[in-house]
Amino acid sequence: MATQHPTRIVRFQLLSTLLGVSIPFAIDRLIKDYSEPMLIATIAFLLTSLNFFHGKVVTLENDDYNNALTDRPAFALADYALNLLVVLCFVFMAFYLDKPGRLVAFNLILRGVDCVLVLLVMSVTPQREVLRAQRSWLAINLFAFAYFLIFLRLYSPVPEHHLATSVAFLAMTVADISVDYSYNRHLYFSMSDTWDDMAHFWDDMQGRDGDIFRRAVLIPAIKGALKPAPNLRILDAGCGNGCVARALAAAGATVVGVDKSPRHVEIARSYGDGEGRITYEVVDLEAEGAAVAGGQFDAVVACFTLQDCCTLEKPLRLLASLLKPGGHAFVVFENDNSFNKTEEHSTTRRWIDSEKRAGKGRRQLIFWEPRSIRISRGGALHSEDDELASEWSRGFKTITRHWSTECYVEMGRRAGLTCVAVTKEITPAPDHGVPITRHLTQYASQPRFSSILFGRPA
Ligand SMILES: C[S@@+](CC[C@H](N)C(=O)[O-])C[C@H]1O[C@@H](n2cnc3c(N)ncnc32)[C@H](O)[C@@H]1O
Repeated sequence: MATQHPTRIVRFQLLSTLLGVSIPFAIDRLIKDYSEPMLIATIAFLLTSLNFFHGKVVTLENDDYNNALTDRPAFALADYALNLLVVLCFVFMAFYLDKPGRLVAFNLILRGVDCVLVLLVMSVTPQREVLRAQRSWLAINLFAFAYFLIFLRLYSPVPEHHLATSVAFLAMTVADISVDYSYNRHLYFSMSDTWDDMAHFWDDMQGRDGDIFRRAVLIPAIKGALKPAPNLRILDAGCGNGCVARALAAAGATVVGVDKSPRHVEIARSYGDGEGRITYEVVDLEAEGAAVAGGQFDAVVACFTLQDCCTLEKPLRLLASLLKPGGHAFVVFENDNSFNKTEEHSTTRRWIDSEKRAGKGRRQLIFWEPRSIRISRGGALHSEDDELASEWSRGFKTITRHWSTECYVEMGRRAGLTCVAVTKEITPAPDHGVPITRHLTQYASQPRFSSILFGRPA
């Protein structure tokens, strides 16, 4: 998780002032001096302030920006000063809702200040969608500048009866919000995860045989639990690019890899069929009536798949139904060490739900970034190794849910599975044969993965 700079809280307070002071003030003025132009100006003012507030919150939630604030006090101060100016402009606009000339003047100042703020954010955030939004806000601000300047020229001096100004203000506000929300709707509305979009990025990370964690820790643990052999039929549920399926097939098992993402399945297939032992299918484990062709399996593996599902109930029931009596299901998931980790992680994690609110299943939004990306003090990006990965990764979001081990066990029990063994911290295999890297050493000192071996009673 990114460090939260103290000014972030102050900025929130500033923006709350925008809503808490200027809006009631504007409404109060409208009630006292009601007129049609005032009504239109007030509506435009309310819409503008809410839109600004929303835009600023999006920026405030940007981890890269918060990191930049932490790194650079001068930058944080500039950010604070500019936000203060924005708030003052709103307060003055509320004050001058009946003074057309001043209303327009403060709108122009507001747009100017916002342009500088936008440039500040753009200088430090590599997040693709946030950058897109900032660019659109810059364009909208410049357009608003031209619009109001032309308006002032047309109506110079600005008429005392300010119906024209109010209508112009409202028209600009509506245009602003329409462009903003149609252009940035992905950023604003799509909280759904992007496993399908990031299939290539994921494949870059895993490659044919899986990343170091899979090769040194997970695949040995999966093989140890399921003992793949030529007479076994194994289901790899949520197979991703198929690296686990390939390892099991290489040990002689017949494997069916399923994933809800068609692109993952396509990529998995591109690595071949493991000498005829692997087939892949697109299956959403949570879909009503989900099924896998070819009958039941001797064993099932779900490696970091259930934590990406919305609930444990549906996928566990499906997996239990796909397991032969006497068969085993091996479920791998991230444990507390992973979810509480704050640094040296390949991804930027942000809690969506507080622990209290979400009960057993806390949710985290993960912004996938390549391991090598760091923001330098100058604001430029350093990509130490994989340029391509950095291009692929920016802007991908997935939602991971953190359930307790007990919760997995209980939901498995409800699905008809008995818990055979729990490994709270999977340690690297003694003979993994993978060169020891910093990441592996760190992992060994604080293992972040857990597993549960379930059995289906015979
Ligand atoms: C973290 S990746 C793990 C991939 C693979 N098991 C591995 O360890 O390399 C999670 C995978 O689960 C898949 N997934 C998430 N929800 C799913 C669902 N409801 N049904 C099937 N697959 C799902 C995603 O598409 C993604 O490929």
